[in-house]
Amino acid sequence: MTDDLYAIIELNSFQDELMKNVLITGGAGFIGSNFIHFLQKERSDLILYNLDNLTYAGNLDNLKDLPNPNSYHLFPGDICHEDLVDKIFFENQIDTVVHFAAESHVDRSIQNPLKFMRTNVIGTTILLNTALKHWMNNKDTENKIYRFHHISTDEVYGSLTPEDHPFTEKTPYSPNSPYAASKAASDLLVRSYFQTYHLPITITNCSNNYGPYQFPEKLIPLFIQNAIQGKSLPVYGDGKQIRDWLYVQDHCEAILKVLELGKSGETYNIGGNNQPFNLEIIQTICSILDELLPGSDYIPHYQLVKFVADRPGHDRRYAMDINKIKHELGWQPKESLSSGLRKTVEWYLNNSQWVETVIKRPDYQDWLRKNYANREGDKK
Ligand code: NAD
Ligand code: TYD
Repeated sequence: MTDDLYAIIELNSFQDELMKNVLITGGAGFIGSNFIHFLQKERSDLILYNLDNLTYAGNLDNLKDLPNPNSYHLFPGDICHEDLVDKIFFENQIDTVVHFAAESHVDRSIQNPLKFMRTNVIGTTILLNTALKHWMNNKDTENKIYRFHHISTDEVYGSLTPEDHPFTEKTPYSPNSPYAASKAASDLLVRSYFQTYHLPITITNCSNNYGPYQFPEKLIPLFIQNAIQGKSLPVYGDGKQIRDWLYVQDHCEAILKVLELGKSGETYNIGGNNQPFNLEIIQTICSILDELLPGSDYIPHYQLVKFVADRPGHDRRYAMDINKIKHELGWQPKESLSSGLRKTVEWYLNNSQWVETVIKRPDYQDWLRKNYANREGDKK
């Protein structure tokens, strides 16, 4: 075994003793709930506290059947509610924060940017301030190790041309949507608390996730649902945008690696190492449905594709250079895009009750009307 590996194992077992009471914000959303399931399996020694104000994207059905319900506690509440956050830190001796809570959908940020600034920027600052208050300059706990881990996105880096090298951790920020701008602001705030106050932080910037429990407003779950129901598949612009898709379980593994082995003050890029055109993803989803639903009236499902007006400020291409996390922490994605997409389609087919409950909600139907009503006939 190399010295490096010994060092990693030593650090790992050292940190294992230290992380205990973990505050997960936004744990009822897509990635947060997958992370809670994952962490309960991987680290049954931890006590998890989930602070989530259950917006349209938060769903307690995502957290049914946890393997270890006794070491999981829900606080339904807002990260912008300072007194509540303070109380949770104080009463539960929080030593680790994994901060997922955010408004996360680009299209919604175009319609209502202010909401994004409130949760993503102000909410993050409130969490940082609270961590600072409880963790720093405290004589009783000065030997304890803490970590504020901030979950972010590749969208902060802006858009790539087909020739550009993928984003590295050193790529300058250049956000193009209000969502990306709010996440960029939150990343910079987190960084500034390390630089100014030495708050122990790490940041991960991850590419597009997909998998179980994703709210059906994002491309993959929306198109699976629409195709099953024979509704049109509204492709923005020419459908030749490129995303770097990552199966959500791989993201969860990367986050745990960073919590256990990542260096305070550092940022790590996470991605799936694949960059298909949107149309290719859609084609794959449709072919899987053709195969799994041989009796469907809509075969081939790809016939449901309809080109609609593009998203304003639509980023053309995202791609992540994941060499840092690969070489420093030993993480790389395990799931291939085709196997991950198949698992995802199967999950949505096998969890029709979960889907039904979400898509019947009037606020969801309102959103579909609002976002898609005026796109047809204007395909610029
Ligand atoms: P999501 O929209 O599915 O879930 C967000 C969760 O945060 C919901 O449960 C919601 O109720 C909660 N929340 C929102 N505002 C809150 C507030 N003020 N107080 C408390 N809770 C609040 O989002 P997701 O896709 O799971 O993304 C989670 C994080 O990962 C976000 O920070 C997002 O920017 C980041 N991210 C997402 C992706 C992706 O592809 N989905 C990729 C990279 C990074
Ligand atoms: P989305 O899932 O919203 O994620 P993001 O905007 O964060 O990348 O969109 C993924 C891609 O799919 C993006 O290029 C926009 C496109 N898209 C459509 O073409 N039609 C749709 O109805 C949606 C929701 C997205």
